[in-house]
Amino acid sequence: MIGHDPNASIAENYRRFGREAAGRSAAYGTLADAVAADQDILAFLGALPVAKRQPNLLFAAARYLLGAPADLRALRRVVGEQASELAAVMRARRTQTNEAARCATLLPALVGLPEPLALLEVGAAAGLTLLLDRYSYDYAGYRLSGADPQAPTLTCQPRGPVPLPERLPTVAWRAGIDLNPLDAADPDDARWLECLLWPGEGDRAARLHAALGAARRHPPTVHRGDLVDDLARVAANAPRQATLVVFHSAVLAYVDRGKREAFAAAVRELGAVWLSNEAPGVVPLPASAAAAPGEDSFTLTRDGHELLAFTESHGTRISWVS
Ligand SMILES: C[S@@+](CC[C@H](N)C(=O)[O-])C[C@H]1O[C@@H](n2cnc3c(N)ncnc32)[C@H](O)[C@@H]1O
Repeated sequence: MIGHDPNASIAENYRRFGREAAGRSAAYGTLADAVAADQDILAFLGALPVAKRQPNLLFAAARYLLGAPADLRALRRVVGEQASELAAVMRARRTQTNEAARCATLLPALVGLPEPLALLEVGAAAGLTLLLDRYSYDYAGYRLSGADPQAPTLTCQPRGPVPLPERLPTVAWRAGIDLNPLDAADPDDARWLECLLWPGEGDRAARLHAALGAARRHPPTVHRGDLVDDLARVAANAPRQATLVVFHSAVLAYVDRGKREAFAAAVRELGAVWLSNEAPGVVPLPASAAAAPGEDSFTLTRDGHELLAFTESHGTRISWVS
């Protein structure tokens, strides 16, 4: 087609990311806008497979090579002088941001379940959200102590009638599944997780360091596998007397609709409690559900049909609705 710009959809994707990132990281909001207008960087991205053109992946890979978050000048330099190394990191790595603080929004959904619990997380990355009982918690002054005093304290603002537990649950068994498990004890994996953080995001880097330390002291088992194909195989190891809880956050957005449906069927087949913490629309909500209170909100649902809460996407706030 005459006048057709093959990089227009990449540019639009970066502009959209820029709008979404601006409130969280002004530096990446500005950088994404600049990339959208930079023909050299767009051409570099256009030569990569579609799934490897994401802003998060580009910015993390540039940080990995530069040793610091990129600004436009540094990014142009890497694209101009180290294009093949940059492309190699983007091809080898994935967006695997692992946020321990999401445990603070998962914990209230576990209240009342018969203990002990068997926790199975799909899309577990390095397994930091499997260590739920190791962390301590601070819900606007309501504090709970975890099993590892050196693990981070997760701070979360509760809104509405959030069912806060009197103590942390007993976990009899835990396991994760990920297409590419990360190992907190591997310096390169730990560095990649740091590179995935955005500049200006407050205490996330300190929390990640502390959570990686907890994972090195108590390594969670994360099996290499797919969330549909390998679910039953891994779940078969859970002790029968424990309540099996299958959970995930920021994972189903990365799989297509068909796989989401296959996953829902596979969890139901297990008879497990299913907790989903995902961006709105990823798991359909009941028609009666209220709208999400903000752009940064995830929806916390149980068993694919019960809306429990809206959660800030990195775990710092929970608004209970059920
Ligand atoms: C953004 S990270 C979220 C990690 C973690 N759930 C958290 O909340 O911190 C998404 C993870 O899902 C994994 N993933 C994506 N598709 C998957 C699939 N089909 N099967 C298993 N894991 C998958 C990715 O490898 C990645 O580690």
